[in-house]
Amino acid sequence: MDKSMDDIMALCKRRGFVYQASEIYGGINGFWDYGPLGAQLKKNLRDAWWNDVVMTGCNGQMGPDGNPVRIVPVDTCIIQNPKVWEASGHVGGFNDPMVDCRACKARFRADHLLVYALRDLLDESHQQTAAWLGVGTIDEVKEQHRKQIDKFTASVGGQLVENTAQFVKLSDEDKASLGCPNCGQKGQLTEPRAFNLMFKTYVGATANEDDIAYLRPETAQGIFINFKNVVDSTRIGVPFGIAQTGKSFRNEVTPRNFTFRSREFEQMEVEFFCHDDDSQAWYEFWRDWRMQWWQSLGLAGENLVLREHEQDELSHYSTATSDIEYRFPFTAPGFGELEGVAHRGCYDLTQHKEHSKAKLEYFDPKRGELAKNGQPKGEHYLPTVIEPSAGLDRGVLAALCEAYTRDESRPSPEIMQFHPRLAPIKAAVFPLVNKDGMPEVAAKLFADIRTRVGSSGFVETDAKQSIGKRYARMDEGGCPFCFTIDGETLTDQTVTVRDRDTGSQERIGIDRVPGYLCEKLGV
Ligand code: GAP
Repeated sequence: MDKSMDDIMALCKRRGFVYQASEIYGGINGFWDYGPLGAQLKKNLRDAWWNDVVMTGCNGQMGPDGNPVRIVPVDTCIIQNPKVWEASGHVGGFNDPMVDCRACKARFRADHLLVYALRDLLDESHQQTAAWLGVGTIDEVKEQHRKQIDKFTASVGGQLVENTAQFVKLSDEDKASLGCPNCGQKGQLTEPRAFNLMFKTYVGATANEDDIAYLRPETAQGIFINFKNVVDSTRIGVPFGIAQTGKSFRNEVTPRNFTFRSREFEQMEVEFFCHDDDSQAWYEFWRDWRMQWWQSLGLAGENLVLREHEQDELSHYSTATSDIEYRFPFTAPGFGELEGVAHRGCYDLTQHKEHSKAKLEYFDPKRGELAKNGQPKGEHYLPTVIEPSAGLDRGVLAALCEAYTRDESRPSPEIMQFHPRLAPIKAAVFPLVNKDGMPEVAAKLFADIRTRVGSSGFVETDAKQSIGKRYARMDEGGCPFCFTIDGETLTDQTVTVRDRDTGSQERIGIDRVPGYLCEKLGV
């Protein structure tokens, strides 16, 4: 089924998953708020990650060394000493080359201009072809091409360096012939200039140049700068991981595709520290396990791919990187990145060691030459890092897109088929009619299962409207099970359970409801 992003976005607003930030003031580009269902969906995904990655160390799997995987969390500041970002390379290098239009002052990413230029060329050739053929249907062909170019534009991020290089290589004549995609004037585009993606702010009241600080563009650096603190204050030793979830900020030049590329977003990152000799095995472990994890939350099948980077795509310090990518409706037939798993060598710790002059070497008592007593003498080294770095908002967006289903045979065709673990509404309890003792029975069952479901989701109850309309509303919210109290309940203590995905119903004893629900939800 082709899913329409417009339909998904409309449902998100209507049912309180995602709203435009500052909507009553006209919005603010690149920022999104989550409504009640969206906030709970996001919490459920974050909690699943926290439980499976951090608390159970990759769901209790053994690492490649045959031992349990050990991860500890931190929660570090959004604003750090600006030297952190000098060391990490974000102050000097976190740039998108940008081109300005001198005439209308619009700003574009240099690589996107080539796409726009391509679009212009196609437009021209379409007009010529239409004139030559003398047919009206050329508009359809044109529309198809436009869609393809939009998809290409959506996925062009990875091509940035290559496309910018091509732009720079264009002759002055060619550049002059490029029209501004906004105002159309030719010869008005500047040479590409670096545009730093970090948000600046001032710390303290004076707000002068010395007080400049940055909102973090990734949660990772908060982990690296606390590596020594964690080693010194816990009994954990290499190999181990430090994990963190939290907001990151990037002044993206072209925020687009709903929440996919936002200026404020949340990440879920692990920096896994290991000895370099073991790093390839740990890289492969994390790459494969992270892929399985996304699959376990219902993003299975052909919509999810693991893409190993080509050698020429790798950062200078990385020997291997792979992306876990999802086929979003706006990238289809292509894919968009959900998570990157990178072998980062010891680049980050080396950078922080050099810039801060702190001793960040780890002393590993289990390594090194053997002493006379047969015990290892120990080894000092900077650990190598494997970094699985996931986007929480992108995960939520993938869950929303994957869940969105249309079944035209149902009275209300839109159904959000969330994985039960992610579903923000876990269950609903309805009295069939608002009389004859049914509301009282429903209220008791509602209170009972609400305490059991706890913070993993809402339990709804509602006596208004026809039962069909109430079911349809639950389908749109993605509630997997509805329990209905009817006339039979009063005589034989059974209720109906309606399954969201099939619409089918069965009867079970009312006393079995909490157990049934916990079993189905896996809570
Ligand atoms: N520490 C490594 C790092 O930050 P990244 O590939 O730049 O790597 C990791 O970001 C993840 O964060 C991405 O896979 C994506 O899911 C998410 N992400 C990055 N930029 C984003 C944006 N502008 N909006 C939403 N999510 C974003």
